[in-house]
Amino acid sequence: MNNLSQIKDYILKKTLENAERASGRLPVATDKDGRFTYGKIEDWRAGFWPGILNYCYLMSGNDRYLEYAESYHTAFVDRLYNKKETLDHDIGFLYIPTEYARYKIKGCSDSLKATIDAADSLLERYNEKGKYIVAWNVWENRGEFGKNNVRRMIIDCMMNLGILFEASELTGDNKYFEAAKNHGLTCMKTIVRPDFTTFHTYLFDMETGKPDKGETWQGHSDSSCWSRGQAWAVAGFTMAYRYTKEKAFLDTAIATADKFISFLDDNYLPAWDFVFRNTGAVPDASASGIAACGLLELSEYVTESKALFYKESAKKLIDSLWNNCILCNDENFEALVNRCTGFYDQDIDVDAGIIYGDYYFVKAIAKLCGAQWII
Ligand code: GLY
Repeated sequence: MNNLSQIKDYILKKTLENAERASGRLPVATDKDGRFTYGKIEDWRAGFWPGILNYCYLMSGNDRYLEYAESYHTAFVDRLYNKKETLDHDIGFLYIPTEYARYKIKGCSDSLKATIDAADSLLERYNEKGKYIVAWNVWENRGEFGKNNVRRMIIDCMMNLGILFEASELTGDNKYFEAAKNHGLTCMKTIVRPDFTTFHTYLFDMETGKPDKGETWQGHSDSSCWSRGQAWAVAGFTMAYRYTKEKAFLDTAIATADKFISFLDDNYLPAWDFVFRNTGAVPDASASGIAACGLLELSEYVTESKALFYKESAKKLIDSLWNNCILCNDENFEALVNRCTGFYDQDIDVDAGIIYGDYYFVKAIAKLCGAQWII
C-alpha cells in the first residue's frame, strides 16, 4: 500500500493525543460531536483502548504507549479477581489486548497468571453436552431472549477462543484447546448457514445439548446476515485454523470470507446488516477492520491466487476506510475510524467512532507493517 506509512503516522499521532486526553479513562465511542465518551472497566469494550496502545508500541517502539497501557493494568486485574460477576464470554476481548499483551510484550508473570485465570473463567462457561461456550449471562430485564442466554452461543465468541488456545500452550494442559476446538466445530455446524452466511446467535436444548435455532440480537432479523457477525466469522475461523490446523476451519474461513467480500457495497464498505447491501444504508466500518485482519491472515494459508485476492481485498477495505471513514483533518473527531455501527435497532453508537472499530483497523495496519500480532 502506497500510503501505509501515512496511515501509521496518523494512528501513532492521534493515539498519543487521545491518550493524553483520556488521562486514565477508557474511550469507547464517539458522541454526536465526534468526541469520545468514556466507559467503565465493566464495559465489554474496555480492553480495546489499552490494546490500541500496545499495538502502537509494537509499531513504533515508543515506550510512552506502553506506559499509558500500564496505567490500566490494576483495574483489569481487579475486575478479573474481584468483579467476577461482570464477566462473560467477552473475557477474551478484555484480556487478550491487555494482560496477555502485557505478558507477551513485557514478560510479566502476574499477567501470565491473569491470562490463565481468564482462560479458566472462560472455560467455566463450556457446556459439555452441547460442546459450546455460553455467551452472555442471563439478562433479567430482556424477556425470553435474556432468559435464553443460558443456552446461547454467539458468533463473536470465535474471537475469544484465542485465549483458550494460548492457555493450552502456556500450561501444557490440553483442556483449553479441546474446548476451544469443540466450540469452533459446533459453531461451524450451527451458526454458519449452508450458504455460508451467519446467524448472530444460536440456541441449544438445555436437556440434550442438541442445536435448537438461530436468533439475532444485533442484526436486522433472525434470517439476515449481520455484517460484523460475518466479519467475526472470517477472523475467528481463520484464527481457529491457525491453532488447530483443522481443514474444516480453513474451508469455513474461506467460504465466509468469500461471502463477506461478495456482499460489500460498491464502495467496499459493509452495510451494517448485509440485507441492506447497496441500498445506501448506514455502514459498519468496524466490520471492515475485523474482516481485513481475517483476510490478511487467511492469505497466509491459501493458494497463491487466493492469497493475492484476499490481500487485495483487505487492502481495498482499508483504502475504503481511509477514503470514506477517516477524518484526518478533523481535529474534533477523536476516534481513528468513523462510520461504525454498534447496535442499529437500539440506536446505540450508530454511524460513529467505536473503539473496537479503531482496534481492528490498527491491528490490520500492524500486520501490514510487519509488527507482532497479539493473538
Ligand atoms: N461482541 C459484540 C459486538 O460485536 O457488538
